[in-house]
Amino acid sequence: MLELQLEGLESTRVGSESGLELDSELRAWEPSLRAHHQALLERAKDPAAMLGWIGVPEDTEALRAVRRYAEGAAWARDVVVLGIGGSALPARGLYEALAPTAKTLHFLDHTDPLPVWRLLGQLAPETTLVVAVSKSGSTAETAALLLVFRRWLEDALGEDWRRHLAVVTDPEKGPLRAYAGNEGLAAFAIPPDVGGRFSALTPVGTLPLALAGADVEKLLMGARRANRRALETAAKSALVLYLLDRYRKKPVHVFMPYGRRLFGVAQWFAQLHAESLGKARNLEGSRVHAGPTPLAALGPTDQHSLLQLLREGPFDKAVVFLRMREPGEDLTLPAITGLEAFEYLFGKTLFTLQEAEAEGTRRALLEAGRPSFTLWIDRADAESLGELYQFLMWQTAFLGALYGVNAFDQPGVELAKVYAYALLGRKGYEEMGKRLKEEA
Ligand code: PA5
Repeated sequence: MLELQLEGLESTRVGSESGLELDSELRAWEPSLRAHHQALLERAKDPAAMLGWIGVPEDTEALRAVRRYAEGAAWARDVVVLGIGGSALPARGLYEALAPTAKTLHFLDHTDPLPVWRLLGQLAPETTLVVAVSKSGSTAETAALLLVFRRWLEDALGEDWRRHLAVVTDPEKGPLRAYAGNEGLAAFAIPPDVGGRFSALTPVGTLPLALAGADVEKLLMGARRANRRALETAAKSALVLYLLDRYRKKPVHVFMPYGRRLFGVAQWFAQLHAESLGKARNLEGSRVHAGPTPLAALGPTDQHSLLQLLREGPFDKAVVFLRMREPGEDLTLPAITGLEAFEYLFGKTLFTLQEAEAEGTRRALLEAGRPSFTLWIDRADAESLGELYQFLMWQTAFLGALYGVNAFDQPGVELAKVYAYALLGRKGYEEMGKRLKEEA
């Protein structure tokens, strides 16, 4: 079960600036957190509020369809997932954390030709399944890769290419949905009231994960637990982050998992917070330019780079550690003659070392008056990850409510897409394209 370890935050006093008075501040804010929780649950009934992710863990019908399809795709060895932003990061984070082995997943969320060439050269089309993921069905990067892979499949397989391509997109709208319908492709729906970065537990995440052999039922089971515990866990951590930013001048929030397999979660955390909370206007329409700056770090790797700055640089950062209570697999370190200099490691395990590094870092920060807290998960399994994912979505939603911004839109991201369409001459954007070229 996910737990928050918050102690230590009180003692991070620096100069005139006090640490958090955790108990009294939590007590003072409790009524407002309860009200935000209630309001989010209420607003979830309105599809326009984009809070559909709260109900996603209950959607066992979508899960059944995904599992049926995955069972029928036993012929595939490799799955190439084409998608970007919310259509890639959350699913990739889950894949890396759970490391299922039934198939190898390759996430393409970029436009660098070299890795695409290399991947095409490695794959056998006969045993490759391509999954194109896009809520809007029109994002240029995903569309471009779809063109490449569609041609590659047809060149190698002829008419059979259709069996090798599936799409995950809006249930009705967008060019990808229309294409899937016209060609009779397997197609899965992202509920209209679920936005990209909040779609981890829809077929955006469950389809690739089920194909790779992960226990997707357990994923949703964990997420349902996070729903039940949202007020007790996510509301609290959101409040701590909010207070640190707004009242203790800590606008940089570093998310630092210990365990390489959890780094993808940190990258998704950065997206969740940046895209949801970085807003020019609040809900009333006034200019606020709100949003803490999220930073993804990795322990212990970044102890040998970022930590110096985190401990001794500007007093503007707070660190959220993510730790596992147990590693699953572990490796015992052998005693080697001639290497007695490392005797202190003999008989210990890699995980013991990782834990000592995490604890050492936590203490080093605390001593220097740098605030941090820890999210504990039992292990990197489907149930714990499902709970962690839904927790992080709730945390973001609570933060949106505390900052008073709409956490579920991304006008800055959309504007960049529009400019790219215009520059590329997409139909309907010609005028803007002409203007942009003139201005260049
Ligand atoms: O969270 C978001 O809304 C974005 O990051 C989108 O997921 C991203 O822009 C990709 O959009 P789409 O899924 O429509 O291709």
